[in-house]
Amino acid sequence: MSKSKAQSIMIFDTTLRDGEQSPGASMNIEEKLRIAYQLQKLNVDVIEAGFPIASDGDFEAVKKVAQTIKGPQIAGLSRAGDMDIDRAWEALKYAKDRGRIHTFIATSDIHMKYKLKMSEQQVIDTAVKAVKRAAGYTPNVEFSAEDAVRTRLPFLVKVVQAVIEAGATTVNIPDTVGYTIPTEYFNIIRYLKENVPNIEKAVISVHCHNDLGLSVANSLAAVQAGAGQVECTINGIGERAGNCSLEEVVMALRTRHDILPYTCNVNTEHLYPTSRMLSTITGIVVQPNKAIVGANAFAHEAGIHQHGVMMEKSTYEIMTPESIGLTQNKLVLGKHSGRHAFIQRLKELGYDLGKEDIEKAFVRFKSLADKKKEIFDEDLDAIVADEIVRVPERYKLVQMNVSSGTFAMPTATVQLEIDGKAKKTAVMGDGPVDATFKAIKTLTKSKATLVSFTVGAITGGTDAQGECTVRLEENGREALGQGAHSDIIVASAKAFINALNKLSSGVPQRGHQL
Ligand code: KIV
Ligand code: ZN
Repeated sequence: MSKSKAQSIMIFDTTLRDGEQSPGASMNIEEKLRIAYQLQKLNVDVIEAGFPIASDGDFEAVKKVAQTIKGPQIAGLSRAGDMDIDRAWEALKYAKDRGRIHTFIATSDIHMKYKLKMSEQQVIDTAVKAVKRAAGYTPNVEFSAEDAVRTRLPFLVKVVQAVIEAGATTVNIPDTVGYTIPTEYFNIIRYLKENVPNIEKAVISVHCHNDLGLSVANSLAAVQAGAGQVECTINGIGERAGNCSLEEVVMALRTRHDILPYTCNVNTEHLYPTSRMLSTITGIVVQPNKAIVGANAFAHEAGIHQHGVMMEKSTYEIMTPESIGLTQNKLVLGKHSGRHAFIQRLKELGYDLGKEDIEKAFVRFKSLADKKKEIFDEDLDAIVADEIVRVPERYKLVQMNVSSGTFAMPTATVQLEIDGKAKKTAVMGDGPVDATFKAIKTLTKSKATLVSFTVGAITGGTDAQGECTVRLEENGREALGQGAHSDIIVASAKAFINALNKLSSGVPQRGHQL
């Protein structure tokens, strides 16, 4: 293919569906909507917003995204059954002609025998019936042959041909278990291109899991073999070891356009803000050496490298930090920064806040700037997460005091506002955090148990804000709470209360009940 006629590859983002299936990544509707807005800015081609039949929370989230987001197509997942498909369309219909039903059934021997207990013919019949039902709602139907990589190729050919005949306009060939390697995957896609008689009537999509760390390489190999759509997630989150990382595949296409003559529509300067937003919302940290968006991805440590970069950036940099939206000068604001600079920076980070929220965030920013010399992007993320993005607050921290040390029995005195009424108690514990959590549990009468607790410094320096994430479980439901403060015990209390508010708000935090 000549360079001037580079083929455009569709980017199908499944952060809100497969990504949300990562342990600990569940998001509430408001959080999903914020990510969806960011995906709209990135200009992905398709947003898979959820699995509508999985839970009421998933249904509402898909519906809200379909109602709100303009531009990208909105997809919803459904198993190959009437109820799933009807429910998916019920949520997707608000996207009108941009709604896509994504239906799937497994096709590998191992899945058909042990999971589905179906014969080949039954699987084909079920797939065809599902695609026809979906096509009755919309011409935009995607079919996935789950575990396609471990499916016998002659059977995969039959399935793909049959679903295209039935009306599928996209056929997805997933590597569900992250098992393949680039040459093998290339050959599978090539085989389908050469052996499915009606293949030109549909776009071939690829969906790679990362169990062997090959999901991006496999996706690129599939593109070279003729795939027209890549399914991926921000930060590569997803089931088990995750999915193909959107930022990696997009930047590979852009950076190696010389040997990968393809384009895509993604506005890459939103990659970094999107990655950070997702990590702030889910509490899943990005490993520092992660390609493209890791904290060290553009850091040059060795003297010889630093020298080279100072002379000529391209000596050690194959992409510019600006191309992914990472501003060179990470220091953002200080005590004397005005409202205008503050709002501008929030916008650059992807936060479009209303007047009232800006006011709240600005007050918090000023108070932080009094304590801390330099305010960084990470501080602003924490302020927004802590102040603005809140579920209804049944419980509010009014004040607290903790005594601890090498001699005193750690004791926390905590005052909360619960349903508008002030309540106070003092409790001893094994340490200051334990005492604080016990005091909060006493006041709220909560039976929630602590699943995990992490605390870290948001930026460097002894004046850095502490950021705390807690995961609580109650009656089979989990909620993630976050809190930031220059005192880490206060940050821990805020995170604990945030998780309790999420549990009490009734918003399903673990979306998938299937
Ligand atoms: O990994 C997988 O096979 C899936 C399908 C539902 C597309 O996520
Ligand atoms: Zn998957």
